[in-house]
Amino acid sequence: MDKLIIQGGTRISGEIRISGSKNSGLPILAACLLADSPMDICNLPHLNDITTMLALLRCMGVGVTINEKMCVEVDPTTLTDTEAPYELVKTMRASILVLGPTLAKYGKADVSFPGGCAIGSRPVDIHLSGLEAMGAEIAVEGGYIRARAPNGLKGAHFVMDKVTVGGTENLLMAAVLAKGKTVLENAAREPEIVDLADCLVAMGAKISGIGTDRLEIEGVERLRGCTYTVMPDRIETGTYLVAAAATGGSVKLRDTRADILTAVLQKLEEAGAELEIGESTISLDMHGKRPKAVNLRTAPYPAFPTDMQSQFTAMNAVAEGTGAVTETIFENRLVQVNELNRMGANIKLEGNTALIQGVPRLKGAPVMASDLRASASLVIAGMVADGETVVDRIYHIDRGYECIEEKLQQLGVNIRRVPG
Ligand code: EPZ
Repeated sequence: MDKLIIQGGTRISGEIRISGSKNSGLPILAACLLADSPMDICNLPHLNDITTMLALLRCMGVGVTINEKMCVEVDPTTLTDTEAPYELVKTMRASILVLGPTLAKYGKADVSFPGGCAIGSRPVDIHLSGLEAMGAEIAVEGGYIRARAPNGLKGAHFVMDKVTVGGTENLLMAAVLAKGKTVLENAAREPEIVDLADCLVAMGAKISGIGTDRLEIEGVERLRGCTYTVMPDRIETGTYLVAAAATGGSVKLRDTRADILTAVLQKLEEAGAELEIGESTISLDMHGKRPKAVNLRTAPYPAFPTDMQSQFTAMNAVAEGTGAVTETIFENRLVQVNELNRMGANIKLEGNTALIQGVPRLKGAPVMASDLRASASLVIAGMVADGETVVDRIYHIDRGYECIEEKLQQLGVNIRRVPG
């Protein structure tokens, strides 16, 4: 297994480009299943999770080719199979996103039931009950979700018990081809859902309330292929900003958006960062200062994102003062705290809150993480540690950060990958 080796002590400085969003690229690729003609998806990040989604589409018989503009052409008209097999779903839970569109378009879908994962139990009950409300018959057999709607789905009024990003995406993709009107209440409002909805509208879907917690969808007969450019990755953006803040450095990020990062930017300003927002750029400067500790609590958008929690926990570990970080979305997403403490951090866990007493510097150590964002937080910790930090199991990082060591090297970080 590959490892990242980081020599700490460098202040980040420089400029990089932000990649396309993993978490909107994945549902948008699933949405291609709904089209009657090929789709061109541009600005997809080159990441393992995107490759897995493309492999899943290919194994369903969908044509996938890369064109001269490096956009991915997805041709759903050659589909031969409506099954998402265990071998692919076990490597990526987001495979569940093919359930809604496949069922809506083909009247049947067999998707391996995704298990729990390192950050929590992650059930999909709301995805299934929403599809049942639209008339689907669903059975769970042999580890597979077997969904049937031989006469098509029909519009429904469905209130989601909990705000769920994937659940909202699956039901939105199902509703666009259902007969009649669907209302989704208590829907997630994450920017990735807006990106998916904008793509569906470009394909001919009728959706109102985009960006709110009440989506109204008027089903249409068919959707056409279109060209769509995936939005910038707000979590990659936030991660590089926090890395710069933790090291007392400065960074300019290109091809990104500040308007979808308000909660994160607010916390960075509280930590003492000077921010400059351009049309598609964000610059951060700490002027060499140590960050100030911040308190935060994760919650659905537009509140503070769970996907940025572990990076801020790492920053707080070397900040001035004490910060309290509360995780409310996933039950097991503070596990990186134990690895940070092995590096000399002073963090106590009380239930779902980490109480972090900042120390001036961490100490390099061999560490490993069990999920994507926790791994990113250990890379940040390595940058503010004395000596060498070896981050193991970085296949987690490769799921969500395009060319992480190249981008960090460009920012002056002493980091290298060693094949394991
Ligand atoms: C998406 O996961 C993201 N993944 C996650 O990104 C992100 O952490 C999460 O949303 C929250 O923002 C993708 O977009 C591919 P949820 P998702 O359904 O859709 C509970 C990353 O690091 N729930 O919004 O799986 C669930 O257990 C990742 O890039 C139910 O109870 O998250 C959790 O507590 C990891 N029943 C909460 O809702 C359901 O049917 C929110 O989960 C569905 C969810």
